[in-house]
Amino acid sequence: MSNKNKFKIESLGEPKFKSPLQLSTVRGDNIFSFIKEDDKLVYDLSLENYNQCLKNSEVPQCLEKAGPRQNVFFEPSKSTAAIVTCGGLCPGINNVIRGVVMALHYFYDIKRVIGIPYGYEGLIPDIGHGFVELSPEKVKDIHQFGGTFLGSSRGGQDVSKMVDTLVANKVDMLFAIGGDGTLKGVNAIGEEIQKRNENISVVGIPKTIDNDIDLIDESFGFETAFDVASPILRDAHNEAAGAFNGISIVKLMGRDSGFIAASAALAMPVVNFVLIPEMDFKLEGENGFLAVLKERLDRKKHAVIVVAEGAGQHLFEGENTVKDASGNVKHEDIGLFLKDKIAEHFVDFPVTIKYIDPSYIIRSAPANSSDSVYCSRLAYHAVHGAMAGKTKFVVSTVNNRFVYAPIVEVTKKRKKIDLESEFWFSVLQSTGQPFSIK
Ligand code: F6P
Repeated sequence: MSNKNKFKIESLGEPKFKSPLQLSTVRGDNIFSFIKEDDKLVYDLSLENYNQCLKNSEVPQCLEKAGPRQNVFFEPSKSTAAIVTCGGLCPGINNVIRGVVMALHYFYDIKRVIGIPYGYEGLIPDIGHGFVELSPEKVKDIHQFGGTFLGSSRGGQDVSKMVDTLVANKVDMLFAIGGDGTLKGVNAIGEEIQKRNENISVVGIPKTIDNDIDLIDESFGFETAFDVASPILRDAHNEAAGAFNGISIVKLMGRDSGFIAASAALAMPVVNFVLIPEMDFKLEGENGFLAVLKERLDRKKHAVIVVAEGAGQHLFEGENTVKDASGNVKHEDIGLFLKDKIAEHFVDFPVTIKYIDPSYIIRSAPANSSDSVYCSRLAYHAVHGAMAGKTKFVVSTVNNRFVYAPIVEVTKKRKKIDLESEFWFSVLQSTGQPFSIK
């Protein structure tokens, strides 16, 4: 049987220390069992993949099951961990920080946990942010608040200098909470560590309000995002319906993926149009957006439009080349653009437009209960994986099970809404908007 497993997680070496966790090795004793290295989960669950593997005598691509191992690589009680949070805010970051600190302290007796302030900047001593010592006492209440207890920043830093800092401070495990750029950054740190033959495990915990990390089911905080957006859409509907030909436009985050806009519209099914970056829509013309909006107003006398911030960038003149510190192209403001275009278009037709932009309010909210559960479990699994000496991996759920996946695999491309998927079809069924607005 051939077929190289692309999901194999790299390891720093053989884990030689006995785990301090008092878990089971057998089934049937009502105690959770250690995860064995050959406990794997098939990635592609389709019958087509199953048949293909059978036909080619191949083992299917499998992901490593997350969880505590019987032997650990780092000597419990003698190790040091560090945590860094990078990029934009997202609900649940503090829950993850808390969970990692608690797991290190209470499960593995690791007393030294360094908080790296303001993202990767905190790993450059010359910038002068210093460190924050993290203890259970320090973090016990932080899950109640949105934002990040450690502060964040965008952009990478000199990888070599960051590794110097980790080595100088005897860090054994680095937990990086961040999105695509952060994960690529921590992978580069992991590679530099390997070049120097150092034994430092680097772990990514995917964080992106846009839910655009590939392969994984969902990034933490995403559910809270559309949960918080939901009552805003309800109220936007009240505003729209409260005026003759009332139009509410709500702009939600989503740089290149429209998951928040689409999910929020499904959660609060009062939305009539969802415009997302994945769609190529026209404003003018017989079947353009302004025409279908007019048709909706004629029929119903109000309309609610949800627009993701990255939608309709093709409608702006000239190519936008301005980038943020993470290297992402800064988008033009589609919300205000739409508001102006609608106002200009309906000049002889009385409309009332309300424009609502709750973007940062949503992103900085504390995690809801469901995300809080997810964050704690992600944190615990991240710690178990790092303690086992695994490196350059992320922890997440795939097919609803907690797994470890190589960072290189989840950062190959960004996840986007498939316009042919059942998910997007559900959005269209809910809004009643045409399949194509062109
Ligand atoms: O982190 C993702 C995100 O929230 C995007 O949705 C948004 O485009 C971007 O960050 C804006 O972040 P900032 O204004 O902090 O650079």
